[in-house]
Amino acid sequence: MSSELEISFILNGQARSLIVAPSAVALSVLRDDFDLTAAKKACGEGECGACTIIVDGASVCSCILYAADLDGRNVQTVEGLDAGDTLDPVQAAFIETGAVQCGYCTPGMVMQIKHLLAENPDPDEAAIRRGLEGNICRCTGYSKIIDAVKSAAITMRAG
Ligand code: FES
Ligand code: FES
Repeated sequence: MSSELEISFILNGQARSLIVAPSAVALSVLRDDFDLTAAKKACGEGECGACTIIVDGASVCSCILYAADLDGRNVQTVEGLDAGDTLDPVQAAFIETGAVQCGYCTPGMVMQIKHLLAENPDPDEAAIRRGLEGNICRCTGYSKIIDAVKSAAITMRAG
């Protein structure tokens, strides 16, 4: 008898099913089976946020999540923000404020910010810093990322 599991979940708005090994990690499944390569593996231990995705409205580190735990859940990766010619307000704010340098942290950072702004549409700087404390950026010094969050929050509240 196979120990593999069939999982079904919503991925960026589409129903998907897949057979996975019990030990399969969500990040690897997203990258290797669905070609969603924006979420990155860096620490692989839930410490840096490079692999952040949103599952049922919560931001999670997909490098420490079993793929089997995606079963029945609503999963969003940064690719799911694609709306054709219109950039998501958080992505637009990153460009506007120069909050991207090497870009390795950016997809995870954007998803963490989507979660942060969904929870708190008008965060002050302390709330932004707290909201991003699990996401490491080695390049920007964070100030432009914080500016991007403030700018995106204004855009999203106006929209
Ligand atoms: S790669 Fe997942 S938290 Fe660092
Ligand atoms: S832009 Fe390089 S790690 Fe954040």
